[in-house]
Amino acid sequence: MTQLQVKVLRRRAEAQDIDSFVLARSDGGALPAFSAGSHIDVHLPGGLVRPYSLCNDPLDAAHYRLGVLRDAASRGGSVAMHDHVKEGDVLSISEPRNNFPLHSAPHSVLLAGGIGITPLLCMAQRLAAEGASFEIHACNRSLARSAFVGELQAFGERFHLHLDDGEAAQKLDLPAVLQASPAGSRLYVCGPTGFIDFVVNTAKSHGWPADHVHLEYFGAAPQDTTGDGSFEVRIASTGKSYTIAADQTVSAALQAHGVDILVSCEQGVCGTCITRVLEGECDHRDMYFTDEEKALNDQFTPCCSRAKSAVLVLDL
Ligand code: FES
Repeated sequence: MTQLQVKVLRRRAEAQDIDSFVLARSDGGALPAFSAGSHIDVHLPGGLVRPYSLCNDPLDAAHYRLGVLRDAASRGGSVAMHDHVKEGDVLSISEPRNNFPLHSAPHSVLLAGGIGITPLLCMAQRLAAEGASFEIHACNRSLARSAFVGELQAFGERFHLHLDDGEAAQKLDLPAVLQASPAGSRLYVCGPTGFIDFVVNTAKSHGWPADHVHLEYFGAAPQDTTGDGSFEVRIASTGKSYTIAADQTVSAALQAHGVDILVSCEQGVCGTCITRVLEGECDHRDMYFTDEEKALNDQFTPCCSRAKSAVLVLDL
């Protein structure tokens, strides 16, 4: 996959523990175009690769802007961005990919939990530029932790800020939002697992069709791995088999044997590592595929998913 070298043009504090990073080509030229909801993989100091949503207007061809929450409890990507990346640094990134695209609708409801605002801000910019009907809700712990509020306020009455430490009257009343939305509206939600589950379950209980609810997880909930065992993975092109130990991921085990699979989030969220499965039964642990896609059993995410059968044959 093509990698791009970009310079950190500007870094700015947007809220408590949230900084934005504006990336550009060193020669100021155009970057590959992106659509609202896209993300890029950033190769970080220390060798980590992490996906970050783009949160600038897609019509801005010269820049990619990221919003990054410094989460000390995470697996190191956001801390590396905050502690080691400064203006003038050169970073290696992937071209943009979009797993969370906008669809045409009479009205769009954008719901952000915390730093999940980043792809939704980009969507709001696009919808506003098109003159489309939308509303955007940002749910945050406090005003100090609310990023991009100044930009969001430019959307006027379409922007709603809900603070955990605020008065009851300003809290998100999701059933009321859903009931007020015209038929055919689409719902977009991004944020932590608990927030997304709450939105998805509320939409379901209010009769929203599942195909009008679009989501992007910001991080996966911890998995219970106590029952995990070992299994074999066979590479179709070479016929070689490798044992995946109970405490190893497929991608890490194969990499140790020189079989490289590109990974980014390493928690089944971004879809970067998707690999076709030719034989065997997958034990899907990701949040990327729909239940229908998982049932097809023809591809899986080796960064976190495992096997229910003794052997998995991969199309590598
Ligand atoms: Fe993101 Fe596997 S690396 S889903």
